Amino acid sequence: MKPIKVGLLGLGTVGTGVVRIIEGHQQDLVSQTGAEIEIAKVLVQDKSKARNIALTAQKLTDSPEDVISNPDIDIVVEVMGGVEPAKQYILEALDRGKHVVTANKDLMALHGREILSRAAEKGCDVFYEASVAGGIPIIRTLVEGFSSDRITKIMGIINGTTNYILSKMSQEGAAYADVLKEAQQLGYAESDPTSDVEGFDAARKMTILGTLGFHANVALSDVKVRGISQVSKADIAYGKQLGYEVKLLGIAERNDEAISISVQPTMVKKSHPLASVNGVYNAVYVYGEAVGETMFYGPGAGEMPTATSIVADLVAVVRNLTLGINGQRGIAPYREKKLKTDDQ
Ligand code: NAP
Ligand code: HSE
Repeated sequence: MKPIKVGLLGLGTVGTGVVRIIEGHQQDLVSQTGAEIEIAKVLVQDKSKARNIALTAQKLTDSPEDVISNPDIDIVVEVMGGVEPAKQYILEALDRGKHVVTANKDLMALHGREILSRAAEKGCDVFYEASVAGGIPIIRTLVEGFSSDRITKIMGIINGTTNYILSKMSQEGAAYADVLKEAQQLGYAESDPTSDVEGFDAARKMTILGTLGFHANVALSDVKVRGISQVSKADIAYGKQLGYEVKLLGIAERNDEAISISVQPTMVKKSHPLASVNGVYNAVYVYGEAVGETMFYGPGAGEMPTATSIVADLVAVVRNLTLGINGQRGIAPYREKKLKTDDQ
């Protein structure tokens, strides 16, 4: 099989990890897919910026057309973030028959339905495993692993930045602003960390998990959100005295009539497994009527864990290419049915 050419939109924290894994694991990738995966072009804002990775200068471009209109490129990996122009680039890439892998939860939570419908129309794959919980393959788990069950509750620590901040405040008595700065330096935070600390990033992820886990059209506006910016060291110390850890928890529940989804700082009993999820680690608890309680744990942000999920999506697209089934065996598209939220 001829090499599969990939165009990257973005070469920041996550994009750099994607290049490292493709280069470092090439033999393993070839043995699984039968094809070499080659980074053909990379879109950045500033070509003159110093990079942590060696790429030949002609691969870097500041013109999106070099990626999305490039006839040699089979798959576009969007790791630039934000809603626009990422949405426009993805739709244009799909219109040109390119498959898409994205880590963009902002986009998938708001416009996932439109993007997946366009992909289905064009016979293209869109995969977005890295959009929720970094290195934990929770999207595939919900869609494929639990396809036989009826999930009624999803609960999780799904923002690495805030868990890193709360853990350091609890364990070391560190100051909120100092730890936030550290999380930014480590590449965990969003370009505007307001999304992390005010709970919006977790709300977007809960929208995606609720949609896939409950087979419902969950809208971002259905999620009640409160972040951690008002949580003080005193709140954390008081919780500890009573035997609790403060965690930013996403909670989604459904019954036959309604679903409810929220994100808020929550006192979690120290005996609960979620209380010992610390640092940049995430954990997602899933309750299914048949399976009962399950929990998935792993690094929720950062260069290499996030890139692991993206390259796994790339492998899925390449496998579909070898079988000629792109656009047919992707992540289940959103269903028409909308469950009532408890506000209705
Ligand atoms: P980042 O470090 O800020 O990198 C963004 C990259 O995109 C940079 O290379 C930037 O170019 C490029 N870019 C941004 N806007 C652009 C534009 N308009 N035109 C051309 N290039 C543009 O971001 P990141 O942390 O890698 O995150 C990327 C995506 O992954 C986001 O959707 C984020 O939510 C998601 N994600 C991140 C993590 C994580 O741990 N960081 C985990 C899961 C998902 P320059 O380099 O020239 O500035
Ligand atoms: N800013 C996000 C977080 C990146 O801290 O969880 C991973 O989605």
